[in-house]
Amino acid sequence: MIWMAPSILAADPARLGEAASAVSDADWLHVDVMDGHFVPNLTFGPNVVEALRRAGAPPLDVHLMITEPERSVEQYVRAGARRIAVHVEATPHIHRLLQSLGQLGVERAVALNPGTPLEAVEWVMEECEAILVMTVNPGWGGQKLIPATLRKVAQLRALLEERGLDRRIVVDGGIDLQTVAQAVRAGADTLVAGSAVFGAPDPAEALAQLRAAAEAALDGETKPKFNQT
Ligand code: DX5
Ligand code: ZN
Repeated sequence: MIWMAPSILAADPARLGEAASAVSDADWLHVDVMDGHFVPNLTFGPNVVEALRRAGAPPLDVHLMITEPERSVEQYVRAGARRIAVHVEATPHIHRLLQSLGQLGVERAVALNPGTPLEAVEWVMEECEAILVMTVNPGWGGQKLIPATLRKVAQLRALLEERGLDRRIVVDGGIDLQTVAQAVRAGADTLVAGSAVFGAPDPAEALAQLRAAAEAALDGETKPKFNQT
């Protein structure tokens, strides 16, 4: 099953509540937290997460692009995050951080920058529910997907199968109607999309179209290529 996670980063910051309601059909609402340090940009904090939760937004998928994430994860959990993505590059103690997130009862995603090898998550795959493969360099919305990152997605899917692990693969960055099918065929099953959804005149319609394209790509994967009879 495909999960769609529109990224509120691409919405009008003065109208976040309206943007969240426009995508009420989404499986998750992706919230990009940037601290001006791990990435140059500065965005939302726990108060915005809490306000979105109060506004009845879809389950909140909080992507922490911050240094020393262990210092503030609890705040985001209290604010109402349902899933938290932490970067392997942001802490020397990713395993311990994932363990403590598990104790806090939140779903966990471990995130990888484009330049970070897959090996960085090999020993923590058991301590998370999802792996987030950045398909652009983190920091801004509206960038072009880096094609090599989809090779990483394919290798990750193969590795999970080899280990018999059932984990979500999230792709984040440059996902639109042109790239969504490639991402799904590579093995992604959770799609973050910012500008392709909130940059469209009708975000609900754009989300539905992206979901349809992703599901069609998944269908093409599972159907036999030739009619055997
Ligand atoms: C980038 C963020 C993404 C961003 C995606 O640092 O992690 O979630 O919002 O935006 P688009 O879909 O416009 O590339
Ligand atoms: Zn993100």
